[in-house]
Amino acid sequence: MSWKAKLRALTTAWRRGGTREVLRIAINLVKQGIKPGRRRGMQMRLEMDNAFDSERGTDTGGLISISEIEVVSGPRELAHRYQPCSPQLLRQTLDSLAINFPSYAFLDYGSGKGRALLIAGEYPFATVIGVEFSQALCAIAERNVACDKGPRKCGKIEVVLGDAAAYQPPSVPLVIFMYNPFAPTLVKSVLDTLIHSYKRDPRDMIAIYDTDCPSDLFLEQGFRLVSRNEVTVFRMGTAADA
Ligand SMILES: C[S@@+](CC[C@H](N)C(=O)[O-])C[C@H]1O[C@@H](n2cnc3c(N)ncnc32)[C@H](O)[C@@H]1O
Repeated sequence: MSWKAKLRALTTAWRRGGTREVLRIAINLVKQGIKPGRRRGMQMRLEMDNAFDSERGTDTGGLISISEIEVVSGPRELAHRYQPCSPQLLRQTLDSLAINFPSYAFLDYGSGKGRALLIAGEYPFATVIGVEFSQALCAIAERNVACDKGPRKCGKIEVVLGDAAAYQPPSVPLVIFMYNPFAPTLVKSVLDTLIHSYKRDPRDMIAIYDTDCPSDLFLEQGFRLVSRNEVTVFRMGTAADA
């Protein structure tokens, strides 16, 4: 339907039933506007979410817009919505890292309901840490960590409530994960903090970025590009630094 036709439909709706009718028609127009391919993609994503959660007894699925969540601190306007990562993609990437997992901590910036934490927990990381600025999402993540029926090989899983940019990473080798959590301005602040920590305490840092990676920011900070497929992997240091 053309924009003119949509506008006509909304004007007629306004005359017919005011705001309520305009809203009803607008919602239908948005639904009609979702292309079949995208609708199929959304359906598949929903099925994957359900499969993960029903197998693990957790609640990690769904999409939650930032306007729906209260945040404790940090720039809400730079935040991206909650959406859980793809388990297959993260496992595939972790499997490709030739590292001694027990020497590393896994750190998820913008950990939401904790799906990436549960997946990282399947590997023998020394610690798995998630930083999330929504108290409600942190509470769900903590419940998920407690009730997850999946395999657990890692040490402690820790959920930290707060702004990713204010978080001081631990001084141990790191596998850093970002699933499109916030705008590049904030990614830059996080990288500044990481680099500051690296200069103080040189060690291996591997960064995994899922979706729309602002690669320049990583390269400008001195990270080397390791691979770029569906996810992009960068590294600072080597396995020998772990
Ligand atoms: C796309 S979700 C990623 C969820 C999770 N990492 C996963 O892979 O399943 C992005 C998350 O980043 C969080 N977030 C956005 N800005 C943040 C900030 N400044 N500090 C901490 N968390 C933030 C959002 O609340 C949301 O839960």
